[in-house]
Order: sequence, then C-alpha cells, then structure tokens
Amino acid sequence: MAGSLACVRALATVLLLGLATVSRSMNLQGKESQEASRIPSQFSSQERVAMKEALKDAIKIPTVSFGPEEFNTTALAEFGEFIQKAFPTVFKTSFIQHEAVGSYSHLFTVRGSDPSLQPYLLMAHIDVVPAPQEGWEVPPFSGLERDGFIYGRGTLDNKNSVMAILQALELLLVRNYVPRRSFYIALGHDEEVSGKYGAQKISALLQSRGVQLAFLVDEGSFILDGFIPSLKNPFAIIAVSEKGSINLNLQVNMAPGHSSAPPEETSIGILAAAVSRLEQSPLPNMFGDGPLKTTLQLLANELPFPTNIVLNNLWLFRPLVSRLLERNYITNAFVRTTTAATMFNAGIKANVIPPMAQATINFRIHPAQTVQEVLELVKKILADDRVQMHVTGAFDPLPISPSDEQAFGYQLLRHTIQSIFPEVNIVGPGICIGNTDSRHYTNLTSNIYRFNPVYLNPQDFSSIHGLNEKISVQAYHTQVKFMFELIQDADTYQGPVPHLHEL
Ligand SMILES: *[C@@H]1O[C@H](CO)[C@@H](O)[C@H](O)[C@H]1NC(C)=O
Ligand SMILES: *[C@@H]1O[C@H](CO)[C@@H](O)[C@H](O)[C@H]1NC(C)=O
Repeated sequence: MAGSLACVRALATVLLLGLATVSRSMNLQGKESQEASRIPSQFSSQERVAMKEALKDAIKIPTVSFGPEEFNTTALAEFGEFIQKAFPTVFKTSFIQHEAVGSYSHLFTVRGSDPSLQPYLLMAHIDVVPAPQEGWEVPPFSGLERDGFIYGRGTLDNKNSVMAILQALELLLVRNYVPRRSFYIALGHDEEVSGKYGAQKISALLQSRGVQLAFLVDEGSFILDGFIPSLKNPFAIIAVSEKGSINLNLQVNMAPGHSSAPPEETSIGILAAAVSRLEQSPLPNMFGDGPLKTTLQLLANELPFPTNIVLNNLWLFRPLVSRLLERNYITNAFVRTTTAATMFNAGIKANVIPPMAQATINFRIHPAQTVQEVLELVKKILADDRVQMHVTGAFDPLPISPSDEQAFGYQLLRHTIQSIFPEVNIVGPGICIGNTDSRHYTNLTSNIYRFNPVYLNPQDFSSIHGLNEKISVQAYHTQVKFMFELIQDADTYQGPVPHLHEL
C-alpha cells in the first residue's frame, strides 16, 4: 500500500511539474498579447468632469447608518437606482451579473474569459456615519466643490471607493475591455454598524456557491503623508490584519438606600473606581509583535540620522521606540489593546442611592492578543468581585494575511501602488485599528488586504467620522485610475515567478 502510494505521488509530481511548465509558457504568451492590448488609464476632460460629478451626486444621497437597526432606507434605495444611472454599461454588460443582497447591498459578478484563474473581490461600503451640520465649512451632504476639494460625509469613508470601483469598471467596459480573471464587487450598506445585513449576507451567499477567492481588497488603510515629521516621502500601508473588539458591560449591584444615611460605598463609587483603574492600567504594549515592526524597519532607511539608526537597531532601541509610539494617541492604538469607557449610567433621583450602576468599556484588541486573554487581564485589573463583567459583543483580531514575496494579492497591490504613485518608495504591511466589512469574508480567503489608494494626512484622519471630510478632485481621479490599472494588473501580473526547484 505504502509503496504504491509513493508511486502515485511521484507520478503526480511529474504531472504537476509538467503542467506547471506548460501553463507557465502559456502564461508568457498570454502576457505578451495581453500587454499589447493593455488600455492606458487616460481619460478625456469630459470623462473627468463626469467622474467628479458622479461622486458629488453620490455624496448628496444621505445613506446614513444611525444605529445597528436604524438605516435611511429611502436613501439606500435611492442609491441603488443612482448607480444604475451613473454606470449604465456595468449594468447592461452580459458577462456581469448584478444582485441586490439584503435589499440594499450590491454584489456584482464579473465573469472573466479565463475560468482557470481564481477570482478576487473588490469591496467598499455605501453607508456613512451621521454628520451633524454644525462645524462643517459646507453642509455635509451637499457634495460641494471648493478649492479643488469635494466636501461631504463619505468622500473618504467610503463612497470614494464605491464610486471609483464602479467608475473604473465602466470606463474599461466602454473601451471594450474583457477581464481574463473573474472578480466580484461587494458594496455593503451597513458597514458602519456591523455589516450584519450586507457584508455578512454577501459572504454567506458566496460561500453557498462554493467560491474561494485569490484575495480581496477593502478599505482600511492609506498612503500616509505627514505622520512622521522627518519623513519627506509619503508611504503606503497595506493593512494585513485588523483589531478585534470587546464590548464589556460592567455592573455593580448594591442595596438601595436613602441619601440621608448613605453606606460607606455606593454602586456609583465602586464602579467609578473600577473604570478609573482600567484607564490607569493600560493593557500591555505589544510593539514588536505584528507587522508594524517590519514597516518601521522599511522606513528606517528613509529617515535622517539618528532615527534611521534607532529603527535599524530595534534589538537595542525597542523599549525606546515602543515608549515613543505610546505617547501619541493614534500610534498608541497601533501598539496595544486600547481601553475606552464609552457609557456610564446610574441613578434616577437626587436623593436615592441607586441599587445599580452600569458602564460599557470598548476594547480594541491588538492582533497579538485574543478576546480571552484581554478578559483575563481586565479581571485582574478590576480585582473586585462586586464588579460583574458581561460581554455583550466580541470578536478576535483578524488573522494576519501574508505579505511575503509569494503573496500574490499583496504583491499585486504593491505593484499597482508603485506604478500609480512612483513617489512612494515604501509599501509595507500594517494593521487597521478600526474594523471593516472584510472581517466577514475570512472563510473565502486568507488574503485580506485593506488599502484605499488615497493620500491621508493627520488632518484628513480626524475628518473621517469627524468634520469637513473631503477629497481633492485630483485624488479622486487618481483613485479611479488606480482601480482601472488594478483590474488590468490582476489579469496580467505574474508576480515573483516561483523557481522550478522550489516546487
Ligand atoms: C433619508 O434620505 C432621504 C433621501 O433619500 C432624505 O430626504 C431624508 O431627509 C433622509 N432622512 C434622514 C432622517 O436623514
Ligand atoms: C465560516 O464557516 C463556518 C463553517 O461553515 C461557519 O460556522 C462560520 O459561521 C463561517 N464564518 C463566517 C464569518 O462566515
């Protein structure tokens, strides 16, 4: 038995090697003809105007997610009709199938000409967080253009991606492009509140069809500009993981009483002390575990003395660098599980000692930790049995997607980034400190990449979910160009060709 099994293996190896050689030579021929038919990403001035006007129209539809079960369904329905008008070719092309999922999310299946190539997925989301009028230079749903910028909720998070993906596909189709590699486009409508009715349903649908993806690209990271003062060039971060999360409810129950004769400790006092202990005992700094270290080392050579020496010698300077990173609240979020007290409730009357006090703490879990580990640490910090812990929602950090030489999706993205943004010298892996719809797709691929091809400076960073969110017309055009090239690159990019002896 064992012997014949070995023979079958040997035969299989020979066949595989043979096939690999044949398919490689076919690929090479394919590549040449494909290169010849490559469509340049040049757009007429008329197309460029239409592009930005379409983005403005998208911003004007207030597709707000107000809460987990609270959507503006009128706006979401309107958005569905809007994309049909804005991208007519996408909707009438015979090799593209459109499906509305969960009523307001959209799945496009683009059938490529070569079924032997594994499909990929491009993602974005239609919904936005609320935007009160106060504090905005222009009304948040006006889509007004000012000084070369289009303003409005969703210009960076994430209608820019929704529109750029569909726009690029529309422009390719108008130029008669037929993709070789199949791909999907998934546009969720409730990303900001969970993805339960959008992304989760689309993922389930694709799983029921037995789909396996080569990779997927979602929002979640950017080309960072001006985050490191002494760094002249912007650098691109492809997020290969995202933080996990715990919503922890803390509750203290005590006997109720009259405020005229109070006990030594009240539910409010006990809970307040517990929350304060959590704030004063940050969870451990995990710098050195995870992709951030790799990227800092890549950046080292771009930085002046002495930062370059420090980053090139993390074996020595690791404690120093990790302390520096915790000083800024944004970089701090990259090196540890964060603790945020978000709700605190107790009491109903001025002269009644309340029987119960409750607080909610939101933890964002560093990829090197798990929900279980964080809960154990929290229990130790609280060190008070009167404080009950109830987890109301939790998920582990996302697995780390590969970013090595052989990681096709990662290398493809890197290739497209470097061709569209030649001034960007460093493309490195990172983590996403927020959450994206892509976390619902882990059964479809282990190659999940989060990257928005847009420059982001610290001011832009705070405009996301904040005030005066905006994108320059130029940056949006570049994003369309990026998607236009990425779709073609997915058909032609050969990646680092494996050597035969490695097989
Ligand atoms: C919902 O969207 C519609 C437009 O589609 C808009 O007229 C309406 O004001 C929005 N409602 C809320 C509460 O924002
Ligand atoms: C992944 O697949 C498993 C097994 O079929 C299933 O239980 C789980 O819910 C799936 N997860 C997601 C995120 O779809």
